[in-house]
Amino acid sequence: MSTAETPATASPSTISKGLEGIIAANTRLSDVRGDVGKLIYCGYDIDELAGKVSYEEVVYLLHHNHLPSPKELDELKSVLAGYRELPQGVIDMLVKLPPDCPPMHAIRTGVSALGCYDTVADDDTMDAQRRKALRLIAQIPVVTAYFHRARQGKPLVHPDASLGEAANFLYMVDGEKPSAEKVNTMDMCYVLHADHGMNASTFSARVTIATLSDMYSAITTAIGTLKGPLHGGANEGVIKMLQEIGSLEGVDAYVAESLAQKRKIMGIGHRVYKVLDPRAPHLKRMAQILSAKLGDPKWIQMSERIASLMLEKKNLHANVDFYSATVYFSLGIPTDLFTPIFAIARTSGWTAHVLEQLADNRLIRPQSVYTGPVGLKVVPLAQR
Ligand code: COA
Repeated sequence: MSTAETPATASPSTISKGLEGIIAANTRLSDVRGDVGKLIYCGYDIDELAGKVSYEEVVYLLHHNHLPSPKELDELKSVLAGYRELPQGVIDMLVKLPPDCPPMHAIRTGVSALGCYDTVADDDTMDAQRRKALRLIAQIPVVTAYFHRARQGKPLVHPDASLGEAANFLYMVDGEKPSAEKVNTMDMCYVLHADHGMNASTFSARVTIATLSDMYSAITTAIGTLKGPLHGGANEGVIKMLQEIGSLEGVDAYVAESLAQKRKIMGIGHRVYKVLDPRAPHLKRMAQILSAKLGDPKWIQMSERIASLMLEKKNLHANVDFYSATVYFSLGIPTDLFTPIFAIARTSGWTAHVLEQLADNRLIRPQSVYTGPVGLKVVPLAQR
């Protein structure tokens, strides 16, 4: 029998489970003001940016801390368009993945593979890091679209350099040029998802790069973190929930049952926002417009009822994933591409945070309080 003693040192530290309330870095990139429901990118309120600037302008803003001039924007667009095509080895690998592999696994694997084909993957000069950042912003949509086409047995659609980021992604997924309305909607979704303070996936990217690992490893880490249903995976959960409920009439009973079972309603609640997530109204408006055009108001009506019940019963608000799910669904995008789209947009923020971390780096290494036994003696194997 083993013997156990009480741990010799009871920790004097205060634990913040989930690191809630802990400040891990200074950042000039974005500010999430949970008490008043504000999101700010480099000094601009999200309400000021949404509808006025394109995703590429936000990429520039996050990477340069100011909005681009027309010339700077044109240069960025042409750099991104020039970086899109993937190494043949990565394409060969993507098309051989099992067709039923969830896309987030494929994208995480694809980004990791991109690192294998980049001869300067470990070049740590800031110029090389910036190039890798832009390359990933341009290539992650292509990884996603290639895998999506291949898993359906459809021919790959190669990137079109004349199209912007949102339009090119839709074109590569559908194989036809998207309508202006679809492009504008997707572009706005990209803008709203681009950055969000020290969220879990951004934090994980910063932890990885803080060891002086490499850009590909940091973004691979971030994708794996975003995938979880408590983070970016919630948008897929929202549509699955709406489909499971099936009709407006079923909403009240579903919510009551979920609360009784202590089951989370996807797309509701937030660690930082204690009032409405400022991205939600923009997405809700888009969802309402698209649902009305499709002549199928069921999904938005169900969503609105769920949101109002959750506010009334738990004082919890809808978050970014709640209405983005209906927007993507109304655009005809397959459910398992919702989280990949989040990843595509958030790559702008992740890479900007990686560059910011590198510019003033310190290894991120918190501590834990040991709660196990001490002083155990090894019992020989044969006697255990
Ligand atoms: N549905 C039902 N109850 C919820 C809830 C939800 N979506 N989100 C939080 N709650 C409840 C919890 O059950 C808990 O209630 P209790 O105090 O009665 O036990 C309380 O609110 C606090 O929840 P907790 O999970 O501890 O808060 P958190 O800060 O750790 O969680 C989230 C934040 C985002 C993880 C959480 O709200 C959640 O899981 N939401 C659903 C997933 C989602 O939409 N994620 C995307 C976030 S952008």
